[in-house]
Amino acid sequence: MRILSRDAYFEALETTRRAYHAQYRALYASDLGAVVLDPLLMRIPIDDHMVHRGDGVFEMFKCVEGGVYNLSAHIRRLASSMDALGLRLPVSEPKLVKIICHTLQASGLRDAAVRVYVSRGPGSFGVSPADCPQPHFYVVVSTLSSGFMETHPTGARVGISQIPVKPGYFATMKHCNYLPNVLMKQEALVRELDFTVGLDHEGYIGEGPTENFGIVTADRRLLFPSCDRVLAGTTMVRVLELAESLVETGVLREAGYGRISPEDVYAAAEVLIVGTTTDVTHVSQFEDCYWDEMGPVVRALRELLLADIQHNEEIRLDFAAHLSEGE
Ligand SMILES: Cc1ncc(COP(=O)(O)O)c(C=O)c1O
Repeated sequence: MRILSRDAYFEALETTRRAYHAQYRALYASDLGAVVLDPLLMRIPIDDHMVHRGDGVFEMFKCVEGGVYNLSAHIRRLASSMDALGLRLPVSEPKLVKIICHTLQASGLRDAAVRVYVSRGPGSFGVSPADCPQPHFYVVVSTLSSGFMETHPTGARVGISQIPVKPGYFATMKHCNYLPNVLMKQEALVRELDFTVGLDHEGYIGEGPTENFGIVTADRRLLFPSCDRVLAGTTMVRVLELAESLVETGVLREAGYGRISPEDVYAAAEVLIVGTTTDVTHVSQFEDCYWDEMGPVVRALRELLLADIQHNEEIRLDFAAHLSEGE
């Protein structure tokens, strides 16, 4: 077996360059205190407990035309996930936001997917968090893929998952243990579906691998599963806020949370999936039940959300700002 010198390591690394790396545009790593733009340098120490124990939390959000969408909601959820794990961010929240903006600027992308990971940090290959002197965080910026409905205009095909769901305690925080979610996606691929949705311990609808699931009942109520059993999706929460305008105009009777059985889904007037990567997506199939056309409520919610993303003014990046290498 070849043992690589430092120089030979970088030579060998060069041979691992792949076409898909073109999506990865910038990584900030707190241990380096700097951004790297070469995808081959976007690496995490193997003894970081996030790598070998899943001991970390994360967020994913998007930047659209230079506007970071719903950032404060993502930062709030990140803080609450960190609290659940007893993790402390090594910088203040305003400093984190500054680093996110700088990393985005360095990527040069006005439309981007941003992922923030806060890890227990390196320290050992054991399980004990006490082995890790300092949490790390990473900000990764990559190109933004087209929305689900742009590539699947007829809507999403959904089935019921056979993978045991995470109990509420683990489902309600966004930590880096995503094996059940991975298996749900794999299950969907095997069944030639787009998503599967888990059922909770009482047989009620839970969530998809990375999205929330909702219905519009025949008597015009918009319903999502309550957040004690699923992740409180930032999109779901925002869609419910936006739905208030449809309640005011009488399009909907009400909008909120509740238990949804599979039978409620079969009887629903409209079915939807919501999330950062799916926006509001029309569900055209749930097991052997079909809704060929996108219904009026899902269409209205989709338009409201897309307009909200487009006109989001919470954080607008200044791409003209000068960033020097040493900054
Ligand atoms: C398990 C799970 N549920 C729901 C969501 C949707 O959350 P958001 O709308 O914040 O993207 C996600 C997002 O990744 C998720 O991982």
